[in-house]
Amino acid sequence: FPGAERWVPAEATLPALREAVQTCRGCDLYRDATQAVMGSGEQDAAVMLLGEQPGDREDLAGEPFVGPAGRLLDRALADAGIDPGDTYVTNAVKHFRFAGRRGKQRIHKSPGRAHVLACQPWLDAELEAVRPRGVVILGGTAGKAVYGPAYKVGEQRGRLLEWPAGGHLARRPEWALATVHPSAVLRSRERDEMYAGFVADLRVAADVLG
Ligand code: URA
Repeated sequence: FPGAERWVPAEATLPALREAVQTCRGCDLYRDATQAVMGSGEQDAAVMLLGEQPGDREDLAGEPFVGPAGRLLDRALADAGIDPGDTYVTNAVKHFRFAGRRGKQRIHKSPGRAHVLACQPWLDAELEAVRPRGVVILGGTAGKAVYGPAYKVGEQRGRLLEWPAGGHLARRPEWALATVHPSAVLRSRERDEMYAGFVADLRVAADVLG
């Protein structure tokens, strides 16, 4: 894939990014998606929440985390004491990856490494525009987008991590906090226990935000 670089506007304000992302042909996912889904939230948010990719509902709505995973995330943020007004929510990959249908629902599969890499310029542009103090990394795909393919949620979750060195961000986030993806909580057979662990992880971010 050519990657998103050439579609990212030089003056990367959030409104400019939102508009430009719809033209992106940096990988092939745009073909089966309804639209690209840029992050949403406050320009001066202290914390960025990073998911995987838009799901079925997000693909149709054009907004991240508006389906079941988003509702669980909202509840967990409230339980952890993180003000949603202080967050910017986005995904490592901006297009839905269509993988077939189950009844009326369209199912997606995780983006590949090539999709994540192709989409990285959009995430970098969002990081430049928002300049969050910290980034909460939701699940394995987001973790691999930031730390590379060897990332494992189970080894990293629940503690503050350093943002990786390198890259071209003018200002790196001061910290990252790794945790599970809210969809994994929804799928889990030990849902209550996993939810409690998710909230406990988010509290580590809430504490550093003060
Ligand atoms: N799952 C994600 O990773 N992102 C969304 O926006 C919705 C569900």
